[in-house]
Amino acid sequence: MSSPNQSAQNLGRYRATLETVAQHAASSQFLNDWSAIRITDPAIKAKLAEFGHQPYIATAPLLYVFVIDEHRNARIAERKGIDPASDEFHLKYSYRFTQAQNDAVLALHAMETAAYSLGLGCVILGSLLNNIPGLIDVLNLPEYTYPVLGLAIGKPDQNPTVKPRMPHTMQFFENTYPADADGVLDQLSAFDEEVHRYYDLRQADRPVDAFSDQVATISRQDVSHQTLLDKAAAQGFRLDQ
Ligand SMILES: Cc1cc2nc3c(=O)[nH]c(=O)nc-3n(C[C@H](O)[C@H](O)[C@H](O)COP(=O)(O)O)c2cc1C
Repeated sequence: MSSPNQSAQNLGRYRATLETVAQHAASSQFLNDWSAIRITDPAIKAKLAEFGHQPYIATAPLLYVFVIDEHRNARIAERKGIDPASDEFHLKYSYRFTQAQNDAVLALHAMETAAYSLGLGCVILGSLLNNIPGLIDVLNLPEYTYPVLGLAIGKPDQNPTVKPRMPHTMQFFENTYPADADGVLDQLSAFDEEVHRYYDLRQADRPVDAFSDQVATISRQDVSHQTLLDKAAAQGFRLDQ
């Protein structure tokens, strides 16, 4: 087995391609309001693994954290005589925050798709957001930036079967949202069965919970430590506007 360092070197040749693909994703109003931080420092990787409670993050050959970035645009606007601290600077308000988040996710997803097409494997890492203040601190994220998601890329050493997908009619509607909410759930029990029969390689010894059970469990999980308003405010954003 190759060491994480060797793997990183082997994957290095894909790096430029993957980063170029991410840069070619669409950006709303061409604001280019995202950045990606490539994590190569083993100490920072270890910190991120700790935040995510996922030890393998520390050995991911290629690792990125995608961030909302209005910091760069604030500096640009400042050069044009606009004070980012004033009400005139609108890139700190909620609409721009969500647009920048969309752009960051589109870029990350473009990179993920390209990595798969090159035969690599990826894990999107929402788990890093377990400790947003820690992440902001360790990545030295300045005002008007905010972490969105991580992306770990490597050579897959497993070949899991594809997780079942929701019945098409439960997720695709025509023209308007269906008034008959129960109709949308007609095929739920069949889907529950199918999901329950699926064995996740990450927990190969037990079947996955039925979809309904997963939703019920997650719907009761306390995520108050991940609330956005105060943490975004600490980064200069005003999401109440
Ligand atoms: C927004 C988002 C966040 C995710 N966060 C994590 C994560 O923190 N850790 C993890 O192991 N998988 C996470 N996943 C799932 C992996 O990326 C998973 O490999 C991917 O969804 C494809 O596998 P699947 O088809 O089995 O779901 C996340 C997925 C998404 C869309």
